[in-house]
Amino acid sequence: MATDIDKQTDVLASTTEIVVNNRKRRLWMIISIFLGLFCVAIIAVPTAITLVRKIDTITVSTSSTTSVMVITSVTPSNGLHLFKKKNEMVYAIWNTTAGDNSARSTPGGGIGEYWRTEPPEAAVDGNLRTEYTNHGVCNSSSYVSEECGLRTGFYLTFQSKPFILVNFQMATNKGPLERNPSTITIEGSNNKKVDLVLGKSWTLIYNGSSGLEFILETRKFGKTQTLLNNTLSFASYRFLITSKRGAANCVSYSEVKMMGRYPDE
Ligand SMILES: *[C@@H]1O[C@H](CO)[C@@H](O)[C@H](O)[C@H]1NC(C)=O
Ligand SMILES: *[C@@H]1O[C@H](CO)[C@@H](O)[C@H](O)[C@H]1NC(C)=O
Ligand SMILES: *[C@@H]1O[C@H](CO)[C@@H](O)[C@H](O)[C@H]1NC(C)=O
Ligand SMILES: *[C@@H]1O[C@H](CO)[C@@H](O)[C@H](O)[C@H]1NC(C)=O
Repeated sequence: MATDIDKQTDVLASTTEIVVNNRKRRLWMIISIFLGLFCVAIIAVPTAITLVRKIDTITVSTSSTTSVMVITSVTPSNGLHLFKKKNEMVYAIWNTTAGDNSARSTPGGGIGEYWRTEPPEAAVDGNLRTEYTNHGVCNSSSYVSEECGLRTGFYLTFQSKPFILVNFQMATNKGPLERNPSTITIEGSNNKKVDLVLGKSWTLIYNGSSGLEFILETRKFGKTQTLLNNTLSFASYRFLITSKRGAANCVSYSEVKMMGRYPDE
C-alpha cells in the first residue's frame, strides 16, 4: 500500500495494481476450480456407469454430461435389486381390491378397458415417456369422476429371481394430475400363474400412499415408499389403485419401480 497520501497518483496506481492482482487471483481460482471439477467428472462418470452396470439398473442411456446426477437417482441404495422387466407378461386387471378375484382388462376405450397405446407393460418398462392408463368403471368418453380407474391395476411374475419387495417408487403420467394414483395396495404370490386371477392367491404386503401426492409435474418419480416389516419373498406381484388425485375418466401412471432383496442376503 502507498503510504504517501499526498501523492494522489501513487495511491491510484497502487489501488489499480491491487485490483489487477485480485482479478488475476480470482481468474486463477476460477480456472483451478474448473480444472478440479473436470478431473472429478472424468473420474466420477466412468465409475458411476460401472456401478450402474453392475447393479443392472434401467437408465444408462442418459448422456454423459448429466449422468452423475441422473444415475444416483435411479441406483437403488442399500444394495437393493431393481426389478428389470425381461419378457414378463404383464396382465391388466380391473374390478378388484386386495384379496378379491380380478377381471381381465382388455385394450380399448370402454368400461374395464385400458387405453390401447398405454398398456400395463408401460408401467414397468423403465421408461418415463410411456404410461399405463385404465378407465375402470368408466369409459374414455364418459363423465369424469373420482371413481374412474379405481380398483384397476396389473400383476406380473418375475422371470428373474423372486425377491422381498423393500421399496417402490411410482411416477406421474404425461397428462392431468387428477389421473395420478394417491393410494395403492401391493400383494405378493408364489402361486401358479393360472391361479393369479383368484384373490385368495394373494397376500397383502402394502396398503398406503403411492408417493405421488406432492408431485405436481408430469412424468416425474414420486417419493420412494418403503414396505415396513415385509419379510416375504414373492415371484408375483399385484398392484391395485385404491384412490386417485381427483376427478378424471381414468387412472394413469408412467412407472412403478420395484426394489428388493433376496431372502438369502
Ligand atoms: C366385479 O366384481 C364383482 C364382485 O366383486 C362381481 O360380482 C362382478 O361380476 C364383477 N364384474 C365384472 C364385469 O367382472
Ligand atoms: C387399506 O387401508 C385403508 C385405509 O386405511 C382401509 O380402509 C382399507 O380397508 C385397507 N385395505 C385393506 C385391503 O386392508
Ligand atoms: C361411456 O359412458 C357414458 C356414461 O358415462 C355412456 O353414455 C356412453 O355411451 C359410454 N360410451 C361408450 C363408448 O361406452
Ligand atoms: C412394523 O413393526 C414395528 C415394530 O415391530 C411396528 O411398530 C409397526 O407398527 C409395524 N408397521 C407396520 C406397517 O406393520
